[in-house]
Amino acid sequence: MTATFALAAFLARWAPAIRHDLAASESEPLTLADLLARADDEDRARWERLNLGYPDPRGAPWLRAAVAARHAVLTADDIVCCSGAQEALSCTVAALVRPGDHAVVVLPIYQPAEQAVTSLCATTGVPLREEAGIWRLDIERIAAALRPETRLVVMNLPNSPTGAQIEADGLDAVVRLCRDRGIWLVNDEVYGLTTTADALPAVADLYERGVSINGLSKGFGLPGLRVGWAASRDHSLLSRIVVAKSRSSSCLSAASEVLAHVALKSEAAIRQRNRAIGQGNATRLRQVAARWPGLLEVGPAQNLAFAFVRYRGAGSSDAFARDLAGRAGILVLPGSLWRSPLAPVAEDGLRIGLGRRASEGALGALAAHLSGRAAAPAA
Ligand SMILES: Cc1ncc(COP(=O)(O)O)c(C=O)c1O
Repeated sequence: MTATFALAAFLARWAPAIRHDLAASESEPLTLADLLARADDEDRARWERLNLGYPDPRGAPWLRAAVAARHAVLTADDIVCCSGAQEALSCTVAALVRPGDHAVVVLPIYQPAEQAVTSLCATTGVPLREEAGIWRLDIERIAAALRPETRLVVMNLPNSPTGAQIEADGLDAVVRLCRDRGIWLVNDEVYGLTTTADALPAVADLYERGVSINGLSKGFGLPGLRVGWAASRDHSLLSRIVVAKSRSSSCLSAASEVLAHVALKSEAAIRQRNRAIGQGNATRLRQVAARWPGLLEVGPAQNLAFAFVRYRGAGSSDAFARDLAGRAGILVLPGSLWRSPLAPVAEDGLRIGLGRRASEGALGALAAHLSGRAAAPAA
């Protein structure tokens, strides 16, 4: 059966009619001029003398060193750069899975990541567990899903769409489970820059068989650079990731390598800018939702890139989102887009993007639309 990608199909269906985008999960994109203005002399010289030959398939050593500097215990040799975080995840899974292996995937997860696993091996899905609006790893269910042939556990924490943060005790427990059995732990950490809680260690720092997937697409607001990476202390795995990558992008764009280096060196300032935008929009969302308590329920803020708002109105969140797109030109993402054949996930939520400057106006348009709906006589 041909795999489909529900989120991309939803965007393709509605994007032409949309005037207010609350679907994006990346922070306000930077322009080339913004980024170059942040370059120091070394990177400006690299940019001006850019050589457009094939770059190192692993990523330039200076770029990998800048990525490693974000980690507690890693060096440039522990990093392989890829064209975006999703390529890093797909290549990691391809490099790990052997015939007869089994995997556990924590749900919900980005559908291409789920399919990267299910296309290669038998897979058990284990949903996150919710308690009073807070989502956590269900360690007991993960333990129960493990088999003698389980090769890897794949998760996305901090999570989209729920916003679930990674909690220290849950992270320690899942590392212990994997370490006792020699299982690889792959975590997609792309939403780590915009969490409301302090960042916890990357799995590659904590665990010798941990692989941290990350990149510049989300919290840095640079998805157009297509720069991601896999970080691991296992160099044999990294070599196999490079082989898997040679079947797709081979190496990064040389221009993106320099721009990515500028962004990584400016991480603190970019993070501060993007968190301030997200913080303002999170407050605005809370104000809008407070006017319709029977319709939209906002839980504790967990990520400043997006919120997972529970839909409490009549009908499904999916029908509400389609109606909002069709009638008001406002795009939000229903939880049904993360539906999985592996296990049920929460479909009563709406992922509402908070990372963009334009989100503020879009939230105003949402409030105006809901007011108009409330004032309209019943059909
Ligand atoms: C959890 C998650 N991982 C990875 C990606 C893709 O990242 P990239 O564009 O860097 O490949 C997305 C994009 O929406 C995502 O939500």
